[in-house]
Amino acid sequence: MAAPDTLRTDDWWRDAAIYQVYPRSFADGDGDGTGDLAGVRARLPYLAELGVDAIWFTPWYASPLVDGGYDVADYRTIDPAFGTLAEAEKLIAEARDLGLRVIIDIVPNHVSDQHAWFRAALAAGPGSPERARFHFRPGRGENGELPPNDWPSQFSGNTWTRVPDGEWYLHLFTPEQPDLNWSHPDVRREHEEVLRFWFERGVAGVRIDSAALLTKDPELRDFIDGVDPHPYIDQDDIHDIYRSWRAIADEYGGVFVGEVWLPDPERFARYLRPDELHTAFNFNFLTCPWEADRLRRTIDDTLAEHAPVGAPATWVLCNHDVTRTVTRYGRDDTGFDFAKKRFGTRTDPTLGTRRARAAALLTLALPGSVYLYQGEELGLPEADIPRDRIQDPMHFRSGGTDPGRDGCRVPIPWEAEAPAYGFGTDPGREPWLPQPDDWARYAVDRQAADPGSMLTLYRTALELRRTEAGFGDGPLGWLPSPEGVLAFARAEGLLCVANLSGDPVPLPPHTDILLASDELPAHGTIPPDTAVWLRT
Ligand code: GLC
Repeated sequence: MAAPDTLRTDDWWRDAAIYQVYPRSFADGDGDGTGDLAGVRARLPYLAELGVDAIWFTPWYASPLVDGGYDVADYRTIDPAFGTLAEAEKLIAEARDLGLRVIIDIVPNHVSDQHAWFRAALAAGPGSPERARFHFRPGRGENGELPPNDWPSQFSGNTWTRVPDGEWYLHLFTPEQPDLNWSHPDVRREHEEVLRFWFERGVAGVRIDSAALLTKDPELRDFIDGVDPHPYIDQDDIHDIYRSWRAIADEYGGVFVGEVWLPDPERFARYLRPDELHTAFNFNFLTCPWEADRLRRTIDDTLAEHAPVGAPATWVLCNHDVTRTVTRYGRDDTGFDFAKKRFGTRTDPTLGTRRARAAALLTLALPGSVYLYQGEELGLPEADIPRDRIQDPMHFRSGGTDPGRDGCRVPIPWEAEAPAYGFGTDPGREPWLPQPDDWARYAVDRQAADPGSMLTLYRTALELRRTEAGFGDGPLGWLPSPEGVLAFARAEGLLCVANLSGDPVPLPPHTDILLASDELPAHGTIPPDTAVWLRT
């Protein structure tokens, strides 16, 4: 069931708009309170109408869902809560018929502790070939009671867990996510087969989770921050893995997007060399505060770091791990930092929404591909989840100080008047995470009919981005502008001007106003926190 060539052979990914679906929270087709593939299939026309080119699904495989599916028990099975493999195949085909490509998520750094390999490793005992696929070690201290090294976790807390026979195993995330040993040939082979398995089923791309963490210092040495080279982030030998993956992707015309959190632009760009990954998420842009000079610097650095390797940039404002954009932009500190997440941080939703609208036009005008996270097109804010309903392990591992990531994972409101805002098919069933009481105003049906809604803004902007040849991949030239204003030209006489200053600024000369993020006053100015697209 290979996809037709029209969806496969071009450079679509160089300037695609890609929509991230978090299946658990998108739409519930079987009425059990959890989103699923049936729900997605029923809502595919919505995504086609929104005007995106592809859908990235966060993990949908069999999983105990300890970390929202990033704890994979079996890559060749869909989790029963989401559906079946046959349904996934149907979904891929139906999406293709609507012109939507499918990108799946592969989590190569670790598996679930329920994965057959890890269960076999536990059963087989110390020194066994089954344990060699993971990082099992004796402990330190007189009786092996201390962990084998001092590595910090990606999720706060410990990185080693002791099993009853006394050995310890490494997990950069939760204990339910044991790290794989990437110097083991089985690990390499298995992932290559998994890639083929999904490419054979017609997926167009793969998002690679925690893509810079796979290989480890061979001796698992201790780490002194600021002194030693990092023992598990961005090891040089990781690139061999991606070269072999690229050869497989090329056989199928598939593409990769790596989750590469690396501040060093030169190290980041190595992942995007022509024989490695096609693209990687631009987290420097995602974490950047709403300040003109810092955004401009981030945009320039991004374009400069991608140019030598010929890879297109990606632009991302949010995803399933970070605070929703409208909430973040309404705060005093408009940047994003995992370490700074706290309960009760004050925000101004009106201001945040205004800025998020301007940010949407800014982002969609930049050269490269762009990612939207479900609900971003609805302007959903971060929800406050009552403490007794929080599920995210990040919250628990922080000792309860970090609210975790559930606030951006709340089920989508589809219908203003329906129970659970139309998320599910069973009116009596509560969604797996509670939805705020005042979300009717964000519902798709309400916004679809409103010319001033965030949804209408996204639909219009995505359509212009598709039809105006100057957007997408290609050059960008900065224009002289007042302080606090970002103004740049794209090909074909297109201009984007975003006013991040506190005062109105004059509209530059133009022939047409294509779109504005908010109403423009009659006297030819751009109000604060507003962006416009112009033709000259
Ligand atoms: C990535 C995912 C995140 C997950 C983690 C561990 O950062 O985006 O959701 O918890 O990897 O797999």
